[in-house]
Amino acid sequence: MTRTAKKAIAGVPGTTDRRIDALLSLLAENSTIVISGSKIAREIGVTRQQVWRWIEQLRALGVRVKGHPHTGYHIERIPDILAPQMLSHRLYGTPFSRRIHHFFKIDSTNTVAIRLAEQGEPHGAVVLAEEQTGGRGRAGRSWVSERSTGIYCTLLLRPTLPPAHAPLLTLLAGLAARDAAAEDLDSAPDIRWPNDLLIGGRKFAGILTEMHAEPDRIHYAVVGIGINVNQSKMPAELSAIATSLKIETRKTHSRFELLVRLLRHFDRYYNQFLIEGAQPIVRRFAEVSSYFRGKRVRITTSTESFTGTTAGLEPSGVLRVARDDRRFTELVLSGDVAEAD
Ligand code: BTN
Repeated sequence: MTRTAKKAIAGVPGTTDRRIDALLSLLAENSTIVISGSKIAREIGVTRQQVWRWIEQLRALGVRVKGHPHTGYHIERIPDILAPQMLSHRLYGTPFSRRIHHFFKIDSTNTVAIRLAEQGEPHGAVVLAEEQTGGRGRAGRSWVSERSTGIYCTLLLRPTLPPAHAPLLTLLAGLAARDAAAEDLDSAPDIRWPNDLLIGGRKFAGILTEMHAEPDRIHYAVVGIGINVNQSKMPAELSAIATSLKIETRKTHSRFELLVRLLRHFDRYYNQFLIEGAQPIVRRFAEVSSYFRGKRVRITTSTESFTGTTAGLEPSGVLRVARDDRRFTELVLSGDVAEAD
């Protein structure tokens, strides 16, 4: 990493201190041994007192660290924190290993990613939060983002594509999240166009893509992915329509491993899209989404609501719907899709 890159990462207000991240990695890598406070202090370049203060801070976050400054420390259980240094090792070879911005608490990872993009942050930057206080969903809705239970992740992309291709970025993010989550589930999740992930008809993940573009070129796109992982229950007003991996499987899942898989699958689909174009993405969507063709749906856009039957996707990722009330097939660029009887 260049010196400027390091400085820019440290410069985002609220970013997790890189040295806490280093401390976590050190403890995790030496989880079977007791490591002395002075060794840790030497390795990460701070005083023993500072190490002790950070250990206390980690404990307050629920990380179980045993020991004290004189005997040394060891971690009782590797915490499921989305620690950038450890993530970066696991994402080696992808564009997502280089610039990982981690926050314990932030309003919205999409908002931070947009701010970073405006400041010239490069393609592949990742913004992660353990908790969001103002998580944003599609159509102005909010995204409930309780601490350390879900994945709240935004990818900053600078593709050399026209804005008309942006829906494909959303589609491929949905496919990546679907493949990553499928490994934690007994039955495969469904995708409701464009990118709601469903188990038994209830949503457990969603994607919010925002971009800055000219008519012929995307300047940047931020792809925000929210996955409900270890929530034991959903807020009462959402429980009929929303779920989490834990609610479905009655097991706790590693957010860290799920995130690694998500970003690796995203990288694979993204490269496939750049090399082969939209066709393999649309083909894959057809394989895994029951909404691709022949599904009775109600579409609600900003201007109208109508029912019809899905009839595949355009090469640009736009949904085709044969309307009940007209003789033609409507092209749905955006809007809410709900199953209709
Ligand atoms: C949806 O409405 O389905 C989209 C939800 C997107 C939520 C994610 S969580 C990470 C990123 N930051 C946000 O504020 N929103 C997205």
